[in-house]
Formats: sequence, C-alpha cells, structure tokens
Amino acid sequence: MDTADLFPIARALHVFGVVLWIGGVAFVTTVLIPSLKRLESSDDKLELFERLEGRFAFQARITTFLTGLSGFYMVEVMDAWNRFLQVQYWWMHLMTLIWLVFTVVLFLLEPLFLHRWFHEMAVKDSRRAFIILHRLHIVLLVLSLITLLGAVAGAHGSHLFG
Ligand code: HEM
Repeated sequence: MDTADLFPIARALHVFGVVLWIGGVAFVTTVLIPSLKRLESSDDKLELFERLEGRFAFQARITTFLTGLSGFYMVEVMDAWNRFLQVQYWWMHLMTLIWLVFTVVLFLLEPLFLHRWFHEMAVKDSRRAFIILHRLHIVLLVLSLITLLGAVAGAHGSHLFG
C-alpha cells in the first residue's frame, strides 16, 4: 500500500477518533455532569463520577492518541508543516492546541494530581467541585466544537476567516 491509499484511511481514522473523543466529551458535559449535579448524596455523586469518567478517560486516551497520530501523518504526507505559519489555517493551530490540552490533561495532569485534587475538593464541598468541573468541561467542549467546524470547513476549501 502506498501513501495515496493510506492517506484516505488516515483521514477516516482521524474523523473516527474525533467522533468518539469529542462525542464523549459532549456526553459527559451535557448529560453526565448535569445529571450527577442533581443527585442528593455527595458520596453517590463522587463515586458514580469517578467510575464513569474513569472508563471514559481510558477510551479518550486511545482516541486522542489515534487522532494525533493520523493528524501528524496527514501533515507529513501533505508536507503541510508551513500551514502552521499561515493565519488562514487557524483551524490547524486550533486542532493541534486542543489535542495538546487533552493530551497533557489525560496523560499527565489527571494521573499525577487532577484526580486527587478533584476528589479532595468534592469531599470538602461537593456542590462547588461539580460546578467548577462542569465549567471546565463546557470551555473544552465549546473550543472543541469550534475546532471541529473550522476543520471541516477549512479542509474542504472554506476561506471564511482569513
Ligand atoms: C495533533 C493534532 C491534530 C493534527 C496534526 C491534525 C491534522 C489534520 C489534518 C492534516 C487534516 C487534513 C486537512 C486537509 O485535508 O487539508 C485534518 C482534518 C480534520 N481534523 Fe485534525 N488534526 C489534529 C487534531 C484534531 C482535533 C483535536 C480535531 C477535533 C476537535 C480535529 C478535527 C479534524 C476534522 C473534523 C478534520 C476534517 C476532516 C474532513 O472533513 O475531511 N483534528 N486534521
């Protein structure tokens, strides 16, 4: 198989990774956290969150890795590194930035300290902890969706912004 055959597969895997990953973030942000916030018992809230988000974090690590790998492969095959120097490819910058933020959170911050920090905060003040958690997820989701829209439009020739 040469690169002409592999490129469309890389693109398909890229979108596959993005759908599972950002779709999961959308579910956690718009369904899971709001439902947990409504639970009466702080203990149940924390326990359920840790169990469910833990499973998602595992999947998210795999899909983030796949999206990054296929993304960098496409940049290399298209020899498109110079896009990072051009403003009209803002969506390329945004894709890489979002990927970097999630990679640092999932592979470094979460296992090193975020998990423990959130647990301690939720034990002390559950309501506040879940409000902060929800806000952070909303910010990441909105940025990811802007990236997604910009990337599809940009990859298919839109010069809407720049
Ligand atoms: C390391 C990070 C990433 C790199 C290097 C990367 C690279 C690329 C490249 C080279 C393309 C093809 C552009 C073209 O055909 O002109 C692409 C397409 C795309 N990327 Fe990424 N990407 C990354 C992360 C992301 C993230 C985080 C998202 C979503 C939030 C995303 C969503 C998309 C979408 C939706 C497309 C368009 C697919 C299509 O319609 O054909 N990418 N990416």
